[in-house]
Amino acid sequence: MVMSPNALPADAFWFFSNDHLTLQRGLAVLGAMREGVRNRRPPQTASLLTLIDFFRGFGDGCHHAKEDQFLLPEMKAAGILRPTGSVVDDHHRLRDLMTTLEASIPSLTVSPESRRKFLDASGAYGDALVAHLQYEDSTIVPTATFELGPDRIARVLAGCAAHDRNPEHTGAHTRYVAALDRLAQQCLGAQMSAQPPSSALR
Ligand SMILES: [Fe+2]
Ligand SMILES: [Fe+2]
Repeated sequence: MVMSPNALPADAFWFFSNDHLTLQRGLAVLGAMREGVRNRRPPQTASLLTLIDFFRGFGDGCHHAKEDQFLLPEMKAAGILRPTGSVVDDHHRLRDLMTTLEASIPSLTVSPESRRKFLDASGAYGDALVAHLQYEDSTIVPTATFELGPDRIARVLAGCAAHDRNPEHTGAHTRYVAALDRLAQQCLGAQMSAQPPSSALR
């Protein structure tokens, strides 16, 4: 993540919204894989596991971790995070759905029950993540940007930068985005506008 030291409050949290666009691309890939499963042309297990690794490594490791550890606590301390629990609860729910989805993969091609679990979990994950990203983009990021104040914004940015400098995380963002690009090429080709998975589409 590159952050300009001169970033104005108006775009201080651009990187959160930018990550959301990457997560939406991940959902488009998940939607294409889900369509394959639905039509009994499931993707290769390795591709499914790479996508799960992306949602865990990028979604949780690179993105939600920074919201949980730096953004949300500062908003809570400032008294401007009204529905404080919902965002953290969303992150937990998304992790649980990904665990359910992963558990269905080994027997996906031989077990109707596993196939059903995969379709249910991937649809629910798509619905939950789309709603979560919309809420953060429409409420959390603008509220933090305009109400948090310069000192707290600076602390959030410093925390996020330190997170990215941690040797455990260095280069992770770039690696996960590159892995997603390869999956998107495989699964979507020219149709980058594929829809995210939705439990309404069964
Ligand atoms: Fe987010
Ligand atoms: Fe989030």
